[in-house]
Amino acid sequence: MCGIVGYVGPQDALDVVLEGLRRLEYRGYDSAGVAVRVGNGASGELASAKKAGKLANLEKVLADQPLPSSTIGIGHTRWATHGGPTDRNAHPHLSADGRVAVIHNGIIENFAALRTECEKRGIEFSSETDTEVVAHLLAAAYDEAPAGVDRFAEAMRAVCRRLEGAFTLVATHADEPDTVVAARRNSPLVVGVGETADGTPEYFLGSDVAAFIAHTREARELGQDQVVEIDRARGLTVTDFSGAPAEPKAYTVDWDAAAAEKGGYDWFMLKEIAEQPRAVADTLLGRLGEHGELVLDEVRLSDQELRDIDKVFVVACGTAYHAGLIAKYAIEHWTRIPVEVEVASEFRYRDPVLDRSTLVVVISQSGETMDTLMALRHAKDQKARVLAICNANGSTIPRESDAVLYTHAGPEVAVASTKGFTTQVVACYLVGLFLAQVRGLKYEDEVAAIVEDLRALPDKVAEVLEQMEPVRALGRSLADANTILFLGRHVAFPVALEGALKLKELAYIHAEGFAAGELKHGPIALIDQGTPVIVVVPSPRSRESVHGKVVSNIQEVRARGARTIVIAEEGDEDVVPYADHVIRVPRTPTLLAPVVTTVPLQVLACEIADTRGYDVDQPRNLAKSVTVE
Ligand code: AGP
Repeated sequence: MCGIVGYVGPQDALDVVLEGLRRLEYRGYDSAGVAVRVGNGASGELASAKKAGKLANLEKVLADQPLPSSTIGIGHTRWATHGGPTDRNAHPHLSADGRVAVIHNGIIENFAALRTECEKRGIEFSSETDTEVVAHLLAAAYDEAPAGVDRFAEAMRAVCRRLEGAFTLVATHADEPDTVVAARRNSPLVVGVGETADGTPEYFLGSDVAAFIAHTREARELGQDQVVEIDRARGLTVTDFSGAPAEPKAYTVDWDAAAAEKGGYDWFMLKEIAEQPRAVADTLLGRLGEHGELVLDEVRLSDQELRDIDKVFVVACGTAYHAGLIAKYAIEHWTRIPVEVEVASEFRYRDPVLDRSTLVVVISQSGETMDTLMALRHAKDQKARVLAICNANGSTIPRESDAVLYTHAGPEVAVASTKGFTTQVVACYLVGLFLAQVRGLKYEDEVAAIVEDLRALPDKVAEVLEQMEPVRALGRSLADANTILFLGRHVAFPVALEGALKLKELAYIHAEGFAAGELKHGPIALIDQGTPVIVVVPSPRSRESVHGKVVSNIQEVRARGARTIVIAEEGDEDVVPYADHVIRVPRTPTLLAPVVTTVPLQVLACEIADTRGYDVDQPRNLAKSVTVE
C-alpha cells in the first residue's frame, strides 16, 4: 500500500525523504507528496508539495517551486483508497489552519462521522480522503493539549483514541521545530536510528526498512496501538494510545536494498502470499455500517434497481474468473438469483441475454484488463447494471461501473495473483451478502454472523502460512513432474482450477483442474504410476455427502497408481488411509473455505517454480496487466 517516510536530523530533509520515497516505489502508488517544517524557533511554517502520478511529476513541481531547506520532513506515495488518484487527494493533508501536515497508510473506518463533526465546526474539506479528518482533529487536539514537552504526542494519542480501522500516521507541526510524531494500528511503521559521519543522531520513519536502509540498519519496530515521538534532542519516546510507556522492539536489518523491497522474501510473490491475512482483513474493513448494513465503496444504483435484478453474470479473466466461479456458489445460495460465470473474452461474442434487470459483476485486480473492460462496455450498451470488484483504485473498470467494491489488497507486483485472488473471493462474498440484504433476504444479524465468520479468515490464513515448511519440501519433491492434476468438488472445484493455473504459469508444468466427479468421464485415463494428484477436500460438514464422494475419488485415483496429495480440514481422518501426503487447513465454513485452501497451492507452485530455477515474479510470456484483447 502507501509508502511513508519521515526524517528528523541534520541532513536536508527533502533530499532524504525523496530518496526514501524512491526506494518505496516498488510498493506501487498513484501520487506523491512531501511536507517540511521551516523557520527558526518555536513558531515556524509548513511547506508542502504534492502531485498525482509518478515521483517524477512531484520532482518537476519541486524544481519549478523549490521548498525552503529544512531538517524535518515527511513524504508519501499514495495508493488510492478513498478518493481517486488526484493532486487534491495526494498526501500530505494539511489542517485548515495550515499548522499540521499528516500522511497516512490504511483506512480510517469511521472517517465519515468524524468528517461530519469537523464540518459542523465550520471546517471545509479540500479532499475526498479519509485521511484529511486526522489533520483537522490533530490541529484541534494540539490546541487543547497542555503545553509541555510531549504536547504533540499527547495530541496524536487523543486523536488515535477516536480512530477506528487501520492506520499508520506521521505528522509534523509548524510550532514543533524538533519533533515528528507517528502512530500505528494494524498498518506497519518502523523507525530507523542512525548518526551522520560527525556523530549527530538522526531518525527515520518508514512503512518498511527500504525507506531508510541507505542510512542505517538499526531499526525499532513499533507495536500495535503505539505512538512514537521523535525529538531531535530527546530521541525516541514510545507510548501506547493512553500514554503508558512502551518499549519498541530493536533489531538490526541484515538485508540489502533489493531484499528490503521484498520484505526479506526471495520473491514478491512470497511476500504477497504472506500479506494475505492483512489483505483479507483490509477487504473487510469498514463493511458493516451503523445499522448493520453492508457498505460497498461506491453505489450509483438505487435500492429499487438492485431489487429488480433477476439475473447475475460474473465476468472476469484467469484467476479473477476463478474467484467468479466461487461467487456463483455464494450468490446463488444467499440470494436465490441465478448466476452465470463467464470468461470475459467470450462473453460479448455469444450475444448474452442482458437487460436492465441483469447485474454484471466484473472482477479485475488491475482494473485495466481489456477483455474484462470490453465485456463491461458490452453489458452497459445492453443497459445491464455493472458492479466492479477491483483492487486498483482509479483504474478504468471501476470508473465505468455503476457500483464498486475495492479489495484494498495493496499493490500486487508478482505476475501471479495471490492476495489479489483471496481478496476477490472475500469481496464476492460481500457482494452476495449485499444483494441478499438489499432484497430483504437476510436480516442484519444474519449478515453480521457471516461477517464474523469472514473476519475469522485472516487468522486462519495466518495459521496455514505458519505450517508451510512441509509443503515447500513437497514442492521440491514434485519439481520433476511432467503432469500434475488437481481435483475438487463444490467450491473446491474453482480452487483446483486456480491451483492448476498457478502451477502452469509459474512452473511451466502441464497441470489441469477437474471437478472430481468428472474424472470418471475421461480424465482418469491420464493417471499413470506416480502421477501426482492434488485433491482439495471439502469440509466433512458440507452438504449431501460431497465430502464422502471426494474421499471415494481419492481412492479411485490411488487405485490407478496416483501419488495423492490431499488438502483437508484438521480432524478429517477419513482421508488419511488414501493420502500419500496430507496438508492440513483449519476448520472453516464450507462456502468460505477457498480463502484458506488456496494458500498451500500458491506456496506449492512458487516452490516448484523456484526449484526449477524459474523467475517466480516474472514468468515467461506473461504480463501483469493484459491490456490487449
Ligand atoms: C493470475 O495469476 C494471472 N496472472 C491472470 O490470470 C490474471 O488473474 C488475469 O489476467 C486477470 O487480471 P485482472 O484481475 O487484473 O483483470
